[in-house]
Amino acid sequence: VDPTLDLVAEIEKLKKEKNAIILAHYYQESEIQDVADYIGDSLGLSQQAAKTEADMIVFAGVHFMAETAKMLSPSKKVVLPDLKAGCSLADSCPPHLFRKFKEKYPDHVVVSYINCTAELKTLTDICCTSSNAEHVINSIPKDKGIIFAPDRNLGAYLIKKTGRDLVLWNGTCMVHEIFSNEKITKLQVRFPKAKLIAHPECESHILDKADFIGSTSGLLKYTKESEYTEFIVATESGIIHQMELASPSKTFIPAPPNNDNCACNECPYMRLNTMEKLYLAMKYEQPEIILEDWIIEQGVASIDRMLEISA
Ligand code: 13P
Ligand code: SF4
Repeated sequence: VDPTLDLVAEIEKLKKEKNAIILAHYYQESEIQDVADYIGDSLGLSQQAAKTEADMIVFAGVHFMAETAKMLSPSKKVVLPDLKAGCSLADSCPPHLFRKFKEKYPDHVVVSYINCTAELKTLTDICCTSSNAEHVINSIPKDKGIIFAPDRNLGAYLIKKTGRDLVLWNGTCMVHEIFSNEKITKLQVRFPKAKLIAHPECESHILDKADFIGSTSGLLKYTKESEYTEFIVATESGIIHQMELASPSKTFIPAPPNNDNCACNECPYMRLNTMEKLYLAMKYEQPEIILEDWIIEQGVASIDRMLEISA
């Protein structure tokens, strides 16, 4: 790409020319968030994908999110700036292994966190995201057993919140499992007024000390509405961009990871997307998300059920 090209202007032009919409997750780099038509959490993004009238959905997020958009709007073209933008949670639950696991609990309802592959969704009764997970679990009759996949941290949090006995798949998010308890405690000593806010994908020792737990949009809303002015943010640090835009006078401190030598609180998959790749994806309309018909047909029901109860 010509380095003198004004990528923002070119992207805006392509949006109009191609009747395209850019949906971006809060973990995208700030420049991408700034050119997006909609920025949101996984639930908001799937709701937008289901109702958009655009011809092309440009998904600035990770692969499972773009797949979800394709399942909800199969007649539309869905492009992802980098096809390698995966997710450690989705990778942790290969469908062929999950199928065997599920056979051990034939009477259980399968609830899957939306952070899973399209094929896993074909083995799922109802999906959830971090903003509606509790509601989804509570919607299942009390006498029914539940398998929850793939995030064991969100699962353990849900067991605590709902009092239900969930059978958990042993997956984790590589970003949310590396926050350092010790370094967070040190930060809390240095900033005694700061509130610790955390995503439920974090390990239980972080969640136990958090002042507020929520999805990315839940955390953003909390910081906007809170009377407090300092926050230690235990989730991917991309969300801080919107927090600072919404509350310019408040202070946001990214929670530190265990390893000092990496930016491990940035998701390496989310950050594969760049402005350049976004521009190229719009221009050439690829890489495109293509799914087999049976996957869409059998998988979309689990997303539809979730959207019905979250409307
Ligand atoms: P939410 O934005 O739905 O809270 O999800 C967080 C996440 O890890 C997405 O990959
Ligand atoms: Fe997956 Fe974690 Fe990255 Fe979200 S932050 S896309 S859950 S690896």
